[in-house]
Amino acid sequence: MQTRPLTLNIIGAGRLGKTLARLWQDRGIFSVAGLCNRSRESTQAAVDFIGAGDVYSDIMSMPEADCWLIATGDNEIATSAHRLAERFSARGSLKGTTAESRPLIFHCSGALPAAALNACRPAAIASAHPVHSFADPERSLTTLQGSTVALEGDDTGTQVLRGAFAMLGCDTLSLSPEQKLLYHTGSVMACNYLTVLLDLSLQTLAAAGIDEQTARKLLEPIVTQTVRNNFALGPAHALTGPVARGDAETVQKQLQALQKTDRAIAEIYRQLGLAGVELAQKTDLSDNQANQLQSILREQAK
Ligand SMILES: NC(=O)c1ccc[n+]([C@@H]2O[C@H](COP(=O)([O-])OP(=O)(O)OC[C@H]3O[C@@H](n4cnc5c(N)ncnc54)[C@H](OP(=O)(O)O)[C@@H]3O)[C@@H](O)[C@H]2O)c1
Repeated sequence: MQTRPLTLNIIGAGRLGKTLARLWQDRGIFSVAGLCNRSRESTQAAVDFIGAGDVYSDIMSMPEADCWLIATGDNEIATSAHRLAERFSARGSLKGTTAESRPLIFHCSGALPAAALNACRPAAIASAHPVHSFADPERSLTTLQGSTVALEGDDTGTQVLRGAFAMLGCDTLSLSPEQKLLYHTGSVMACNYLTVLLDLSLQTLAAAGIDEQTARKLLEPIVTQTVRNNFALGPAHALTGPVARGDAETVQKQLQALQKTDRAIAEIYRQLGLAGVELAQKTDLSDNQANQLQSILREQAK
């Protein structure tokens, strides 16, 4: 017997919401029903991108659905959940439902636990955070597969989402609510701060008089190779350069040069250098070399 796809409503079909909706709709995993963004124009644009769904101006008028994704910005998730709970209550949506027949409400924030949706109980609640950047929805349609999605929340909810993301070629990882914040912080440091670091590197190359196009061309192969080395060898064995070699003289000259051009970048160089010394000690850096580097890197600009 063929089962019908579960229906899915979306509150906040922005970059993430419309990408997931399009993928799930195209593969027949969910049938996209109602969408509601802040503006009607943006909701219509999401419907056009997904190729399915209907535009709603407010949560109150949205139709019933098996699953509801709240994919607004993080700071709007709890407010939207309250509004949805009011809608459930006004429509009697949860009356007479059993644990199996209640709708699933989920969000995709990495920083917030499923409990941000507590207002919607006794509906099932869950959070599903894809470790993926949805900066460009069109690109994400082809690049999401292979990403990991961190799941947390009620068993019934996480089970549905595990299946839905597996059908998109994603791995899933189960987390407790207590793990979520540091899990997300770790992902942010690797992904977002790598971007920040690249920007600081470009600023430093610009201070050396190298134009951005040349600088990007120069960095791309070495940065790509460094990322590959990190995943193949682990950070301790991937680390190269003056800190890994114990080259105190070069580190001192570089720090002094930065302190003259940009003190904020110099501070970051100092702090990351100190972390680098600890990392290098896991392989070849001797205690003597480490002490020399630390005394240089602990010296703050006057
Ligand atoms: N982007 C990523 O790479 C990424 C990765 C993993 C997880 N996430 C998570 O995914 C969620 C959405 O992020 P995003 O980047 O997709 O955000 P986004 O592109 O800014 O989209 C947010 C959407 O929510 C709508 N919205 C805001 N407040 C609303 C409200 N009160 N009622 C109804 N709709 C509302 C906005 O409508 P308008 O268009 O009308 O303003 C917009 O369409 C967040 O929880 C985020 O942490 C994002």
